[in-house]
Amino acid sequence: MRTRAAVLRAGDAPFTLEDVELAEPGPGEVLVRVAAAGMCHTDLSGRRPRPAGAELLPAILGHEGAGVVESTGSGVTRVRPGDHVVLSFDSCGWCRQCLAGAPSYCEEFRERNLTGRRVDGSTGAVAADGTELSSRWFAQSSFAHHCVATERSVVTVDPDLPLDVLAPLGCGVQTGAGSILIGLGVTAGASVAVFGSGAVGLSAVLAARLAGAARIVAVDLHAKRRELALELGATHALDGADPDLVAQLQEITGGGLDHAFDTTGVPSVMRSAVEALGPRGALGLAAGADVLLELPPPLLAGRTVTFLLEGDAVPQTFIPQLIEHWQQGRFPFDRMIRPYAFDAINDAEQDSRSGETIKPVLVI
Ligand SMILES: NC(=O)c1ccc[n+]([C@@H]2O[C@H](COP(=O)([O-])OP(=O)(O)OC[C@H]3O[C@@H](n4cnc5c(N)ncnc54)[C@H](O)[C@@H]3O)[C@@H](O)[C@H]2O)c1
Ligand SMILES: [Zn+2]
Ligand SMILES: [Zn+2]
Repeated sequence: MRTRAAVLRAGDAPFTLEDVELAEPGPGEVLVRVAAAGMCHTDLSGRRPRPAGAELLPAILGHEGAGVVESTGSGVTRVRPGDHVVLSFDSCGWCRQCLAGAPSYCEEFRERNLTGRRVDGSTGAVAADGTELSSRWFAQSSFAHHCVATERSVVTVDPDLPLDVLAPLGCGVQTGAGSILIGLGVTAGASVAVFGSGAVGLSAVLAARLAGAARIVAVDLHAKRRELALELGATHALDGADPDLVAQLQEITGGGLDHAFDTTGVPSVMRSAVEALGPRGALGLAAGADVLLELPPPLLAGRTVTFLLEGDAVPQTFIPQLIEHWQQGRFPFDRMIRPYAFDAINDAEQDSRSGETIKPVLVI
């Protein structure tokens, strides 16, 4: 079928809205009319060069889609046309990690979410000029009026709820909240520092408040973002450029953090996070660093460092929980959202990069 999509043709090019031809949904797949799509920092990483043979561009990106199911491929039983869905990451369902309830560590996670292709190698998307486009970015490529997702990656939601609010739940919000509630298992009375107050970090702050953490320290370079973190439930906010950061964190927590969560991907910040941990403290990392990490001696005494993917969440159970918390006023993640018209996608990217907008949502 023909649809309109935002295509990224080169790492340094703007997104261009183009007519594209999408393959019909195959076995286990669903065609979704996209109503809205959040922009996550990981979409922007699609601009980075990749090794020869693993090129992603030209591509349709977008992995925080929400919309309405239009049709389903063979074998699909869990969703039907007309269902409202939030799109999340894909997993195989049958590997050891999936069977253990940890689909974000699926043995096929990379193939299914980051290559822009189905596992059989096809992309299912062609531009009007005949160029094959990477699609299936996180099994969706939702910067488009329509996309084909997998049955396993969609989460059905109440049709009365606004899809342009729910869209970011599929990645950024789930990642921040899940890392705190599931990955790090923050409990009442604990101390937590969240490094970076973007969409992932602020979702973590909201979740730490939900968990009843006693000390919630937000760290960011932007004063405006630190202010919002305080409004959303942080008990303290510190400037990431402060040379006394570690000492301040130790003072606030009376000896060291129980939990730290890094969303900056900045090696020096990760190092400070380790230094500020108390005994048996745990640091969760959400952003990959391109360099080898040197971890300082305080890692002794039972401390741990873990890379968390998608907050360790199972989208089909966790996203409905977050929606429930939001409806009951305990999880106001919508405060981070700024809507953009679809054809303003390049402005959305610019505002996300400058720090002006925390979570752009394209209304399609
Ligand atoms: N692990 C996962 O499953 C997963 C999922 C979604 C996103 N991510 C990654 O998480 C990261 C965060 O995503 P986001 O959408 O919140 O991005 P973002 O850019 O909005 O947030 C990052 C924040 O870190 C702050 N920061 C940068 N350097 C800093 C420093 N030295 N000290 C303190 N703060 C600093 C920035 O000011 C910004 O507010 C990205 O790298 C993204 O790719 C990972
Ligand atoms: Zn799997
Ligand atoms: Zn993401």
